[in-house]
Order: sequence, then structure tokens, then C-alpha cells
Amino acid sequence: MTGVHRHARPILVLGATGKTGRRVAEQLDRRGHAVRIGSRRAEPAFDWSDRATWEAAVQSVGATYLLDPADFGAEDGAAVLRDFCALAVAHGTRRFVFLSSRDLGDAGDAGLLERERVVEESGAEWTILRPSWFAQNFSEEPFLANQVRGGLVTLSTGDGLEPFIDADDIAEVAAVALTEDGHAGETYNLSGPRLMTFGEAIDTIARLSGHDVRFVAGTSEECIASLEAHGTSHAFAVFTDQLFRWIGEGRNAMLADGVQRVLGREPRDFEEYVQRTPADAWRG
Ligand SMILES: NC(=O)c1ccc[n+]([C@@H]2O[C@H](COP(=O)([O-])OP(=O)(O)OC[C@H]3O[C@@H](n4cnc5c(N)ncnc54)[C@H](OP(=O)(O)O)[C@@H]3O)[C@@H](O)[C@H]2O)c1
Repeated sequence: MTGVHRHARPILVLGATGKTGRRVAEQLDRRGHAVRIGSRRAEPAFDWSDRATWEAAVQSVGATYLLDPADFGAEDGAAVLRDFCALAVAHGTRRFVFLSSRDLGDAGDAGLLERERVVEESGAEWTILRPSWFAQNFSEEPFLANQVRGGLVTLSTGDGLEPFIDADDIAEVAAVALTEDGHAGETYNLSGPRLMTFGEAIDTIARLSGHDVRFVAGTSEECIASLEAHGTSHAFAVFTDQLFRWIGEGRNAMLADGVQRVLGREPRDFEEYVQRTPADAWRG
């Protein structure tokens, strides 16, 4: 196939047991590429907070699907990322695909922009993915999935609109950017095909799965309380409430064209995500 690199070296997928990484690893495997799983549970294990684990993970690797260490406990995420990228490049990594975030990127979050710049200046080819909120949060992100399972979802999004993206589309974009030509130096904003409120998303899950669940537009205090009741720390609940309030203010109410630009097709719709998700995902 023209323009496809079959890396003789394995591709390291960080977060390979999570929502996007698991799917990136599956996509690469399906395309015949050797994959190294990056996870604290893998052999060899990879842990952002234990530098002694990094070298075995990057050994002989040709390209890396990179998550943001700032979201996994690193206090100085840019410094951690800089050191990790330098080690990976020294061991032969020639390409990074970095999972960033559209809402924080659009908001000009200084920390996130600095970490994106670290990847851009790593000396390897880079592609940055800035996705909207994932559809899979409703079934795989405990603070939200547990609310759905419990039958009542209380968030401070009001009737704000979000173009939920399917994690399978993010993974397909990442797999293409990791293995094909033409995506180096690109930052892709990725969204689903239409804007929806969280209430509409919950109604769609209820209608298509038969699970009894409803959405309540809550205040910040109610949102933070419900996030904490479903397993998050107070600090994470406060941070996430802020992201939900941005949605309520309409800041995310626009579509992006990254899936179309990379894959040459429309993104998957939220209804397709619900139909593909086993109903058990929402039953306690
Ligand atoms: N969710 C959204 O709607 C959304 C939207 C835009 C951007 N994002 C970004 O997406 C990223 C999260 O990606 P995701 O949703 O695919 O992941 P995820 O489902 O949150 O899973 C986290 C992954 O990271 C690994 N991990 C956790 N702590 C680690 C550590 N200390 N060292 C090494 N690995 C560690 C976990 O593996 P083990 O537990 O096996 O180690 C797991 O594979 C975040 O940076 C977030 O900002 C998310």
C-alpha cells in the first residue's frame, strides 16, 4: 500500500489499557504492526512516575502513541514529557502522535500548550490530536459511567452542546498518523458529526439500551458532589466541573474536521456508539 510504513520496529502505545490506547493497539495490530503495550500492568511495565521503567519501554521502538503525563500524576508534566521524548528519540523513535485536548487547547491552557510544544520540539516527527469529549466516557470513564449505571446523571453542563467523538475514530486517526505519510507537523481537532446536549446523549442511551437513566442539569455544587460520590477526588471534581461549565457556556459548540481530513469519511455518530456498546456496560 502506497505511503504505509510497516515499521520494522514496534510501535509503543502508552495508555494501552485505556479508552483510546486499547483501541490504537487493536488498530495497529489489525494493520500488521508490532505493538508494545505501555501500561503499569504490562511486561515490561511502564510508569510515568518511575523513570526506571522508561528505558525498557522505548527500547527499539520506532514510533509512539503518547499520552499527557500531566494527566497521570506528573507535577511538572512538560519536564517529564521532555525527558521521556528525549530518551525515546535517543533509542530510535522517529514519530510521536500526542493525545491532547480540544477544550483546553482552544482555551489556551498554558500548561497544555507548553507540553504540545515539547512534543513539537522533540526532534521526531509529530502529530497532535485534539479531540472533543469522548462518547466512551458514558460507558468507560468511572465518574460518568457509574452515574449512568446508577440511573441519574447530574452535571453542570446545562443544555450546552458537545460534539462527542467515538474513541474508535480517535484510534483510527492515531493509527494512520503513526503509520502513514502526510500527517507530520499537523494538529488535528477531532469531533463527532453533530452537536448534542448531555441530556440528549443520556436520552439516547436510555432509548437504545433500555436502561432506565435520566439527566439532571445541576449546579456546580451538585455536579462536584455527584462526581465525588462516584469516585473522583475533590480536586479532580472541581477541575471537571469547570470543563462542564465551559460546555454550558457554549464554548465547545462547534464541529471539527480532523476525522474527515485524515480518514476521508464522516465520524461515527453517537447512536452508533450506543448500539455497539453492550447493554451490560450500563447495568450495575
Ligand atoms: N475523556 C475525554 O473526553 C477526553 C477528551 C479530550 C482529551 N482527553 C485526554 O485523554 C487522555 C486520557 O486518555 P484515555 O482516555 O485514552 O485514557 P484512560 O482511559 O484515562 O486510561 C488511562 C491509561 O493510562 C495508563 N496510566 C495511568 N496512570 C499511569 C501511569 N502513572 N503511568 C503509565 N500509565 C498510566 C492506564 O494504564 P494502567 O492503569 O494499566 O497503567 C491507562 O491505560 C487525557 O490526557 C485526557 O486529557 C480525554
